[in-house]
Amino acid sequence: MKDNSKFSSFGVIVAMAGSAVGLGNIWRFPYLVGENGGAAFILIYLAIVLLISLPIFLSEFVIGKRSQSNPVGAFRKLAPGSKWHWVGILGVAAAFVLMSFYCVVGGWSTNYLVRSLGFQFSSANSPDFAGIFSNCVETTWPPIIYMVIFMIMTAVILLGGVKSGIEKFCKVMMPTLFFLVLFIAIYAMCLPGAGEGIRYLFRPDFSKITGNTLIAALGQAFFSLSLGMGCMVTYASYASPDENATRCSVITAISDTSFAIIAGCAVMPAVFAFGGNPESGPGLVFLTLPQIFEKMPLGSIVAILFFLALLLAALTSAISLVEVMLAYLIQEFKMKRGVALALVFALICVVGSLCSLSQGAVPGLKVFGMDFLSFMDYTSANIMMTIGALLTVIFIGWKLGKGIFREELTNHGTLNIPEWFVNMEFFIIKYVVPVVIILIMVASL
Ligand code: PFF
Repeated sequence: MKDNSKFSSFGVIVAMAGSAVGLGNIWRFPYLVGENGGAAFILIYLAIVLLISLPIFLSEFVIGKRSQSNPVGAFRKLAPGSKWHWVGILGVAAAFVLMSFYCVVGGWSTNYLVRSLGFQFSSANSPDFAGIFSNCVETTWPPIIYMVIFMIMTAVILLGGVKSGIEKFCKVMMPTLFFLVLFIAIYAMCLPGAGEGIRYLFRPDFSKITGNTLIAALGQAFFSLSLGMGCMVTYASYASPDENATRCSVITAISDTSFAIIAGCAVMPAVFAFGGNPESGPGLVFLTLPQIFEKMPLGSIVAILFFLALLLAALTSAISLVEVMLAYLIQEFKMKRGVALALVFALICVVGSLCSLSQGAVPGLKVFGMDFLSFMDYTSANIMMTIGALLTVIFIGWKLGKGIFREELTNHGTLNIPEWFVNMEFFIIKYVVPVVIILIMVASL
């Protein structure tokens, strides 16, 4: 019988790419590009992915692969008797905070897909876009019900376990997702007037770069690659101990980044072709795009494909977030998978409902002046992930050391990874990443 608790070699890559490619690529990336000056933001983002994210990814992979354990157990095994396991606990907590708003946006995506299947965005039905948005996002029950539906889909996949659940789902859904988004991008780029959107994406205007651009790009680079919250540690722990960490990390980073750019090419040309506002922030995908679908030839079909893609992307990431918590509960507290899942499901639905209510139904639900959902987004993406990533590289660079890092990258000398690459990545992990993260954190204060 096959071991259901481990990924196959291809499985690790699709699962990691599935985690990375998500709402971050289709929902968050295009609006961040819009708010931060287009191509200039993309260039900085690419530089950060190469210089900062990839080394962090390798660090998380090494921790997971060497320990074959959940984030908390991993630090316990690799640094017994120390306080390092708190980094793992921070990761599990961050996954919880992030998931409690991610499931709300996953619910909106589900609701929009259902509505597009009913051709509600077709001009024949004279849609009231603001009304639909308000019903999906700002009312009490519909957003909560769809959030629970989204959580049920997530739970059903996870009940199948690592190989027959996560791996199987990602193997089918990731190629589907890729072709869907590629198709929409090609279609959008062929629309009359799309050139303006493409220029916006690819012609940099460096005068738009400010401190905020840097922070937004750094946050997005962590968020999009699922870094700093034990997610890649967990997935790498399900990989075989002789998996090629460098290959998996590079392929995931390339897939995620190309996916974000393709999603940008699906969204921006359409926005420009129909006179939408590229700077409409988080509402870009849910408020601006449906109005564009209505005007577009074959728009009702494109709307279905788009919201299907959004939902699939959200699901393959949501399962990775919940799996971080499951791995922790199952391995550290010896819980049965079903029990752990029921517990996490219930907790996420409660906190998720608060996030959802803060969008309009209960306007007073604010923390530090931010509505509760934005607060959870800000806390997880900008604070917890950044600190988690910082501590992870410090752990590799200053505690675990180059010897173990090299052993894990080369699989004890059996893989042909050039020595200069190992040295360069280790140097970046030990010095460059911590300094850059600290500088950007200080700048943001
Ligand atoms: N990378 C996902 C996205 O781009 O939507 C979000 C995410 C998933 C972040 C899993 C962190 C994580 F652990």
